[in-house]
Amino acid sequence: MTFDNSVAIVVPARGEDPTSDLPATGREWWRNAVIYQIYPRSFADDSGDGIGDLRGITTRLPSLVELGVDAIWLSPFFVSPQRDAGYDVADYCDVDPLFGTLADFDALEDAAHALGLKIIVDLVPNHTSSDHAWFRAALDAAEGSVERARYMFRDGTGESGELPPNNWDSVFGGPAWTRTTNADGTPGQWYLHLFDSTQPDLDWENPWVREKFRDILRFWLDRGVDGFRVDVAHGMIKEAGLPDYTAPADSGSMGGGVGLEPEIGTHGDTPTPPYWAQDGVHEIYRDWRQVLDEYEGNRVMVAEAWVEPLTKLARWVRPDEMHQAFNFSYLETTWAGPAIRRVIDGSLDAFTGVGAPSTWVLSNHDVVRHATRLALTADNPQGHGIGPKSPGQPIPELGLRRARAASALMLALPGSAYLYQGEELGLPEVIDLPDHAREDPTWFRTNGERYGRDGCRVPIPWEADAAAYGFSASGKSWLPQPADWAPVSRDAQVGVPGSTLELYRLALALRHEHDLGFGAVDWLPGYGETVVAFRNGAVTVIANTSQTAVELPVGEVLLSSEELQGSALAPDQTVWMRL
Ligand code: NOJ
Repeated sequence: MTFDNSVAIVVPARGEDPTSDLPATGREWWRNAVIYQIYPRSFADDSGDGIGDLRGITTRLPSLVELGVDAIWLSPFFVSPQRDAGYDVADYCDVDPLFGTLADFDALEDAAHALGLKIIVDLVPNHTSSDHAWFRAALDAAEGSVERARYMFRDGTGESGELPPNNWDSVFGGPAWTRTTNADGTPGQWYLHLFDSTQPDLDWENPWVREKFRDILRFWLDRGVDGFRVDVAHGMIKEAGLPDYTAPADSGSMGGGVGLEPEIGTHGDTPTPPYWAQDGVHEIYRDWRQVLDEYEGNRVMVAEAWVEPLTKLARWVRPDEMHQAFNFSYLETTWAGPAIRRVIDGSLDAFTGVGAPSTWVLSNHDVVRHATRLALTADNPQGHGIGPKSPGQPIPELGLRRARAASALMLALPGSAYLYQGEELGLPEVIDLPDHAREDPTWFRTNGERYGRDGCRVPIPWEADAAAYGFSASGKSWLPQPADWAPVSRDAQVGVPGSTLELYRLALALRHEHDLGFGAVDWLPGYGETVVAFRNGAVTVIANTSQTAVELPVGEVLLSSEELQGSALAPDQTVWMRL
């Protein structure tokens, strides 16, 4: 039996489904949406400076409609010195000239809406840039001033304040405190930064800060955005007294597993660190939810919250808080049947319990791309990126095969799925970036010990034969693109049977046609531990994580992550069938 996944696809209209007989409250667009993450600096460059921009995105929007996604989420494009690729915001209500202007944003939003795409922007509330006027004013103001009270300034410890206020480490490496210098040149107070020293933490106990962010929400809601992805949504409140904290030795698996929060420590029985997942964050989300609910059109918030277990994360999406939270437990699950079944069950249980959809995600701009991650051959600290000298180098063919199987499995699940730009092309992590090209603060703060996240941020290849693969007509690219990316370029995959792009297109069209996002998982017995087999409505999904082939039932194959050889499902392969 062979299967050609390049069949012509008629993509049905997007948005709420008028034919549904579920009450409107049960079918809001975000409950089953496939949301595509655009990392603006690496998506499409219109200006020719080698850094992607808003006009570039607008030009390429039709390709996302062809792909079949429902919404786009834009990583930050706000005014920023770009010390953490825009997650260091110096003005929340304006566009950085690097990416364009507010008028360019409005044009992008209009174009997206005209094409039926919702648009979500990134909100970065835990910290500002050290270039933000609020922080500049705080540095200029006296100790104990209202300006300083907007941030986390503290006196140092030790005989003359020469030691930091506590022992917290920055997520990017090194201490989480930096000492200031007074106007007269003497050493001053310290300020907290859970991330880079150019990202001072705001004090969210301060009502002034809360008021300012309500204004920022309204600014973008008034402009018509459909929602916000909330950065570090588990970090804004710190335990009173800022007590010392030492992470348990094995706590690296969480954010450490893939990225950012090596000490998140909110896994079940390990203690909650005094800077993550404090109960006080929920009051803030309830407040924001009220602001969003003032607006028509089902505006949403999705939490970037590295919180485990899932039962705890579900508290971020209670009915009066966020709408969704990224399911990083799913992202971190290895390609193994029992683990996959467990995380799917755990996710559906936890989120359904609070009336929220589960989300599913395999890649983003902070983690090793799943076409590489799923084939790492040794225990690798993926959170710190992977580079030429890392242990556990992947076999690229195995990574891609597993990534396609994993994506096909994910896109059949009920709930909302997040895609990261380029995964629909099967892009791998770029492992051999030259050291001098790297920009992630993690790389610098650890003196190159951790490679960081640049490898998943390399600009997208659009056209095999164009300069910079069509990313920029000037041929420039802020990170070098691999010399062998012509075959994975988008135009080399369009309409090509078996290409990763056509696999994603088909999966998204079938997902929509069969309403899988509003379905349910019905496990199928009899396939053994290493096979993930379930029915979602009319579609039967079988994913083989084992090393041996599995006999398929008799039925019509709707989609296969690889060409089928007879009636056997090979290792690392997923099919969707109608039995
Ligand atoms: C999470 C973002 O996804 C990441 O890219 C950023 O570095 C940190 N938060 C700090 O804002």
